[in-house]
Amino acid sequence: MVIGLKTLKDISLKNKHVLFRTAYDVPVEKKGGRWIVSDDTRIAASIPSLKYLLKNNCKIVILTWLGRPAGKPEEKLKLDPVAKRLSELIHRKVKKLNDCIGPDVDRALAAMKPKDIILLENVRFHLEEEACDEKFSQKLSTLGECVVFDAFAQSHRDYPSTTGILKALPSVAGFHMEKELSTLQSLMKKPKVPFIVILGGAKISDKIETLRSFLSLADVILIGGAMAHNFLKVQGIKIGASYIEKDVSLTPKKETQSILQTAEELLKKTKDTFVNLGPGLNVPKLVLPLDFVAASRKDGPSIEIKNISIEHNSTLPRDWMYLDIGPKTVAYYASIIKKAKTVFWNGPVGYFETDQFCAGSKGIAQAIIHSKATSILGGGDTQSFTKKYHLTKKFTFVSTGGGASLELLSGKEFPVLTYLMKS
Ligand code: 3PG
Repeated sequence: MVIGLKTLKDISLKNKHVLFRTAYDVPVEKKGGRWIVSDDTRIAASIPSLKYLLKNNCKIVILTWLGRPAGKPEEKLKLDPVAKRLSELIHRKVKKLNDCIGPDVDRALAAMKPKDIILLENVRFHLEEEACDEKFSQKLSTLGECVVFDAFAQSHRDYPSTTGILKALPSVAGFHMEKELSTLQSLMKKPKVPFIVILGGAKISDKIETLRSFLSLADVILIGGAMAHNFLKVQGIKIGASYIEKDVSLTPKKETQSILQTAEELLKKTKDTFVNLGPGLNVPKLVLPLDFVAASRKDGPSIEIKNISIEHNSTLPRDWMYLDIGPKTVAYYASIIKKAKTVFWNGPVGYFETDQFCAGSKGIAQAIIHSKATSILGGGDTQSFTKKYHLTKKFTFVSTGGGASLELLSGKEFPVLTYLMKS
């Protein structure tokens, strides 16, 4: 239970026309010429709230975004495969519309009967969403008479489809939102130390900012995945064609510092800070990989692969890329994780989608599983990784939220909560 949070059970939803805000930002892949959902965890997480709404005879209109389209429709980010998977999981027809606002949407909503479910098209196909357009917020607010907000993974964002609709309509949190908040808050109330954070993944622009907060919250931070490339680059270490996320500002109201600038600043700040974790284990506060698995390409046939240690990184061919942390790093990180009492892991440390590059993430997972630490994992990719290797149940809690769990644990206040708390 989250003290003060308004939930589904706090209001009467009988026969209501509900705008159900969820986070169906799920991985999709093309198989046999068709797009399919390759990990349905986030869809499954919404089922308890949806079932409750069906029991209450509601008309249900679902709103979400998927991926980061630049304000215009993109074939691979359409929600049709999501509607199909949802329909299979809820055992009911789910009508998918081709937009989230407009006359066709209005007509379809007016024709709804109790227990009908409509899934609106990706809200990020409208530029007005990321531009935080006030009129767009107003249009979205006509999609229901109240909001059930269950989109934990998107709850750290301040957009028309999050705070905009909550501001305009009576709103409560769904069961999934409540579960995520209460579990993460209780696990992190007083984290037992040593508290070790592992940060990887490819979405870096948001994570690197939260690193600042984790410097004071965590004892040691282990860096892996594409995030490490930024730290190497600012030190003048060769990274070849390794992935570096372009500077993107998804929060237009705030000024964002360049990723590389932030990496440089964090390195400077931590350069003389070491943490003693036991005999022979005096480690830097911010730990970077010692070696990598590098390859000529990230998938497809005839990939050439070699291990490259950072000391000898001049051997990295210009068009090769780092795709996983190497065995020396896995062993070093595992020795640190062994000492942890609390672990938070967000983002795989390699490109685990290709089997040749999953050893690093598997090594980290095994180290956490064999430690005695309370383990909290977050992020869509981390969750897909644990699901792929049937490891989910081995951790204390696997959150569906990536940026959301990271920001919540780093102590950031979520604007959506202003509207979901009892006043
Ligand atoms: C997620 O998958 O973590 C959410 O959908 C957040 O998406 P964003 O980082 O693209 O805003």
